[in-house]
Amino acid sequence: MEFLEDKLLQYIEDNTEQEPEVLKKLYRETYANVLVPRMIAGHYQGRVISMLSKMIKPKQILEIGTYTGYSAICWAEGLVAGGMVHSIDINEEIKDMVDRYIEEAGIRNNVTQYIGNALSIIPQINETFDIVYIDADKENYSNYFDEVIDKVHAGGFIIADNVLWSGKVLETSDTRDEDTEALVAYSKKIREDDRVENVLLPIRDGLLVARKK
Ligand SMILES: C[S@@+](CC[C@H](N)C(=O)[O-])C[C@H]1O[C@@H](n2cnc3c(N)ncnc32)[C@H](O)[C@@H]1O
Repeated sequence: MEFLEDKLLQYIEDNTEQEPEVLKKLYRETYANVLVPRMIAGHYQGRVISMLSKMIKPKQILEIGTYTGYSAICWAEGLVAGGMVHSIDINEEIKDMVDRYIEEAGIRNNVTQYIGNALSIIPQINETFDIVYIDADKENYSNYFDEVIDKVHAGGFIIADNVLWSGKVLETSDTRDEDTEALVAYSKKIREDDRVENVLLPIRDGLLVARKK
């Protein structure tokens, strides 16, 4: 389900700045050569991520779900000097492509790639984060939150993508599939957790922003 009609979406995109050339190229290559390209953040969501990062001015970011690196590069745009995006993906096959684009974007010293299961890798990253971006397997969103909450600064953010799941979160519990169920459970968990305050932004497929108190 698209939440906005095509003309309005076009108007929003037209009034949002263009992404850098390197991201346009990465987007085209992802659509040409990589499976399930609709997973990529793309122009509008990418600019939202970039702007959030520039507003927050983070030093350490954890991204769960690198895919071809589009959102990692957007997050890196707002890093303070010496900052780092730690980005995890279970799919080894796209590592070289991500590497190539990190180089081309000129952020070799600002992105660390980790290949493997995020739940095993997160405990090995010895950092406290200003932003955690959850954009991987939906059934583990709640586990990711539990794993990262103590690794986020007070005032830091845990931002989860796809929390509207194309509107499927409105289905009744007897028709929801496992991913939808997990996303509904995630939003409920966040709104009931006293350690965070939260707002759900209806941006693209839904961004749930939780701020650690
Ligand atoms: C929606 S894509 C990420 C898109 C990316 N953030 C972007 O905007 O361009 C989800 C990614 O999560 C990865 N993934 C799925 N399960 C995972 C797991 N258990 N640990 C780490 N990564 C995982 C997939 O391989 C996939 O590349």
